Amino acid sequence: MSQKFPAVTLNDGKQMPVLGLGVYKSLGEGEVERAIVSAVNQGYRLIDTASVYKNEDGVGRGIMNCSVPREELFVTTKVWNNAQRMNDVEGAFQRSLDRLKLDYVDLYLIHWPVPGCYLQTWKALEKIQASGRCRSIGVSNFEETHLQTLFETSGIVPAVNQIECHPLWNRKTLAAYCRQQGIAVQAYAPLARGLYLNREIITQLAEKYQRTPAQIGLRYLVQQGICVIPKSSNPARIAENARIFDFALSDLDMALIDSMDEQFRSASIPDDMIGQGVH
Ligand SMILES: NC(=O)c1ccc[n+]([C@@H]2O[C@H](COP(=O)([O-])OP(=O)(O)OC[C@H]3O[C@@H](n4cnc5c(N)ncnc54)[C@H](OP(=O)(O)O)[C@@H]3O)[C@@H](O)[C@H]2O)c1
Repeated sequence: MSQKFPAVTLNDGKQMPVLGLGVYKSLGEGEVERAIVSAVNQGYRLIDTASVYKNEDGVGRGIMNCSVPREELFVTTKVWNNAQRMNDVEGAFQRSLDRLKLDYVDLYLIHWPVPGCYLQTWKALEKIQASGRCRSIGVSNFEETHLQTLFETSGIVPAVNQIECHPLWNRKTLAAYCRQQGIAVQAYAPLARGLYLNREIITQLAEKYQRTPAQIGLRYLVQQGICVIPKSSNPARIAENARIFDFALSDLDMALIDSMDEQFRSASIPDDMIGQGVH
């Protein structure tokens, strides 16, 4: 049954759903289309893709085949590192739009802060936003230092910082900084790709709240005002991951999950960022 999910108001006045569907590695024949149709039927309205995921065509077909008009969806895509290095952000953006078969996206992100490039990439995103072909612009994998550098050269504060964030790496300091600057935090790999789901604290809380481990981990994030984009291609898990708005963890249990932090990075740094430093 379809339900309405909460949304946050971004610093540009646009609304972004708190929960979305991640589609990284949704690459099987028809897989991403089916995942999107299933997610939309369950009430999801946000889809998170990227040019580097090589599935924007399938995302476009999923959007076309799903049960709601495009205007009701919030579609995010991202500019990859090579386009930044080649100073071809406008070209990369247009190719993403063409693959998605859309005339605008809701959110366009700088996927990684490529050293020596990301300030000029941000200027390109500002122009794309001004042209009306993307509603909001933001960043991903930006640390505080990258954001501070951006603030020195631009008056436009990113609407979103999409960062790895989950119980094994809760990013408290960066999330607090973003909040203070008016930047919405969106957690990628919010399930740490499954790696914390069998940890004792999580399984005990799942038992206590009569929820699944994934729901406990996702609830931990949304309860802090952090948006989440869990990936699943499985209709039952897509539905499971959405049932996180009808219960609350106690302050003590939130603190218990805080104690799991070990700064564990589940998503690897892309090959083309290694050796060049991520700062
Ligand atoms: N900006 C960035 O640099 C960046 C980096 C990585 C990811 N992302 C975005 O964030 C999204 C989510 O991150 P992610 O895909 O890396 O990791 P994730 O969402 O933490 O985990 C996805 C994995 O968990 C499984 N899963 C999903 N729901 C489950 C459940 N309820 N119980 C048990 N297992 C479950 C999925 O398998 P099934 O599909 O079989 O269910 C998949 O193997 C991506 O898809 C992408 O859109 C962004």
